[in-house]
Amino acid sequence: MRLDKFVCKSTALNRADAIQLIQNGAVTVNEQVVTHEFAQVHENNTIQLQGHTLIPRPFRYILMHKPAGTICSNIDEVYPSLFSTTNIEHTEELHIAGRLDADTTGLVLITDDGHWSFNITTPTQHCEKVYRVGLSRPIRGDEADRFKHGILLQGESKPTQPAKLDVLSPQDVLLTITEGKFHQVKRMFSAVGNRVVALHRERIGEVLLDVDAGEWRYLSDEEIASFRS
Ligand code: URA
Repeated sequence: MRLDKFVCKSTALNRADAIQLIQNGAVTVNEQVVTHEFAQVHENNTIQLQGHTLIPRPFRYILMHKPAGTICSNIDEVYPSLFSTTNIEHTEELHIAGRLDADTTGLVLITDDGHWSFNITTPTQHCEKVYRVGLSRPIRGDEADRFKHGILLQGESKPTQPAKLDVLSPQDVLLTITEGKFHQVKRMFSAVGNRVVALHRERIGEVLLDVDAGEWRYLSDEEIASFRS
C-alpha cells in the first residue's frame, strides 16, 4: 500500500495533510524517515507518525440497498452518490464491487479490500449476480436458450458467458450472470429485441439483499468468507 494511503487509513488525516506530513519528514518506516508519499509499505512494517506507531483500521465489508436515482461513485455527480444519505465514515477509502446504473436498484457490496472484491468482479471467478428484470414486451420463448449459450453484444468481440433465465411472468424475469460488462443486462435484452424497464439486483454469490432501500449493514464473517477463493 502507498505510504500516504497507509497514513490516512490509520488516522483521521485527509490525503493532502498526510502528504504534507510525509514530505516534512514526520513519518518513519522501520525507523527510517521516508519523505516520498508514494513509497510502498506493508502492514508488517513499523510505521510511525511523530513517534506514534500507526495501526490501520481493519478492512470493511458492507452490504447496501442502492436506491434509484443514486450513482455508484464516492462523490456526487449528476446524481447523488449512494453514500450521500448514509452515515458511513471515510467513504473515500471504499470502492463498490460491481457498479449499478443510476436507475438500477438493489444489492451492492462495498469494501476497501481490493483482493476480496477481485473475487466478486472478475469473470473468471464465476461469481453469480441475480437480477430481477422488468421488460417492455413479453418474452418470446427462445431467450433462455440464447442466454445459456452466450450472445454477442453490440461492440463486443466475445459472447457473454452462459447466463440463466427464470421466467416469473412474461414481462418479469430473473437473470443470473457471472460477469459485469457495461450495461450488461440491458444490452442482453436489447440483443434479443426487448427492453429493460426495471432492474433490481437481488443476490451476489450467496449474499441476499435483506435491508430496505438506502439502508446498509456490515457483512457477517461467513458472508465475507464466502467470496474468498
Ligand atoms: N446490467 C445493467 O444493464 N445495468 C446495471 O445496473 C447492472 C447490470
